[in-house]
This record gives sequence, C-alpha cells and structure tokens, in this order.
Amino acid sequence: MIEIQNLSKNFGSRTLWSGIDTTVNRGEMVALVGPSGSGKSTLLNCIGLLEKPSAGAVLYEGKDVTRFTRNGVRRFRRDVLGYLFQNYALIENTTVAANLEIALKPQRSRRGEFDTTVSEALERVGLAGREGDQVHQLSGGEQQRVALARLIVKRPALVLADEPTGALDHVNTTMVIDVLREMRAAGCAVVIATHSGHVRDRCDTVFALNEKSSAA
Ligand SMILES: Nc1ncnc2c1ncn2[C@@H]1O[C@H](COP(=O)(O)OP(=O)(O)OP(=O)(O)O)[C@@H](O)[C@H]1O
Ligand SMILES: [Mg+2]
Repeated sequence: MIEIQNLSKNFGSRTLWSGIDTTVNRGEMVALVGPSGSGKSTLLNCIGLLEKPSAGAVLYEGKDVTRFTRNGVRRFRRDVLGYLFQNYALIENTTVAANLEIALKPQRSRRGEFDTTVSEALERVGLAGREGDQVHQLSGGEQQRVALARLIVKRPALVLADEPTGALDHVNTTMVIDVLREMRAAGCAVVIATHSGHVRDRCDTVFALNEKSSAA
C-alpha cells in the first residue's frame, strides 16, 4: 500500500538516511527502530507529509504523495492518515470529547452515532466517562490514550505512530499495542517508531535505521 522508493533526507551536507526502499502492506505492522537521532521521526514525518524528503518517492496506491498539491495533502491527511505523535498533539484548551470529535468524518457525525463512537473509543482506552474532562488536566499517559481514542474514531488506512508508548506503563503499553493490532487486523497499515523491544516483538516486521551521518 505504501511503497518507499530510494528515499533520502539531508540536512545541509549531512545525510540522515539515503536509499531507503521498502513497502508497507495493508494489514502489516512495522516496527521502525534505530538509535536516537537515526531519523525515525523524520522518516515518519516524510511519509506523513510534515517534512519533504531530499530525494525519492513515497507511493500511496501508486501515487507519489510527496508531489501532492496542497489539496492532495489535505485530503491525504484527512482521509488516509492517522498520526500518533511523541507529544500527543491534542488541543489542550478543550475537552476530551472535542478532541475526538475533530476526527469524525462528516457522514458519521450524526448525533446518535457520534455519541456511541466517542464513548466506545474512550472505553476501549480505559477512559470511560471522561468526555467532559479538560485535556490540560490529564496526565501524559491519559493524553496519549486520548490520542489513541481519536485514532479509533478516525479509522485511518495508514497509522504513523512515533513512540506511542513512551509515556506509558506496561498495562497501557499493552493496551496501545493491542488497539493498533486490532486496526491492523481491520486492514490498516501501521508503522511504529519505537525503542521498546516489547513493542518491536509484537510487530510483523522490523525496519532498522542505522546511525550513519556523513558530514562533509
Ligand atoms: N530541521 C532540521 N534541521 C537539521 N537537523 C535536523 C532537523 N530535523 C531533524 N534534524 C536532525 O535529524 C536527526 C534525526 O532526528 P529524528 O528526530 O528523526 O531522530 P529519531 O530517530 O526520531 O530520534 P529519537 O529516537 O531520539 O526520537 C537528529 O540528529 C536531528 O537533530
Ligand atoms: Mg523520534
């Protein structure tokens, strides 16, 4: 589903990574591993269109997403992509429910259905009944789980997760990985940047970046 072709990223004269060729299929969960600074977040950001690669292509259903127009980028983010960021990326000054609501597709936001979907997602991540809580009053791990609930509501085709279990204890790490595995079982492609051996072991494949910066 995602085909990465000869992808490279430079910062000035420094090559972060180069010549990356790999494929991520529907229903596949890939662990993206490598030392701190090897460029895992940067690679996820290039696939998620938050950064531009220096060379190469990222094909989604045959189309190079790195060449999308502004509208194409917007549609790809809205219709295909789900992101779990290292820093949660929640809207802090509002409620849990409002953060989940933005992920709802218009055709699913009819009132009755909306309420069920949001409350079910919160229940799934162990935050049942917390719809009205202010996000800035939640703990880091709780915010991470709200971000996960937002993904459950959104049901994206491709999930990019940047150390999604970094702030979590073992029980919640297992819950996050279980949810991502359920999404994978439903046909979603999942890429997880992680330092955790436990998380890596629960993925289908491992893609490793090595530290090989070449300063000129
Ligand atoms: N805009 C930028 N300009 C210059 N260098 C950058 C820029 N963005 C990232 N880098 C560098 O690229 C390298 C890789 O960063 P990245 O965040 O992708 O690593 P990572 O593998 O995700 O590390 P970690 O495991 O610590 O999260 C770092 O050395 C970083 O300083
Ligand atoms: Mg990172």
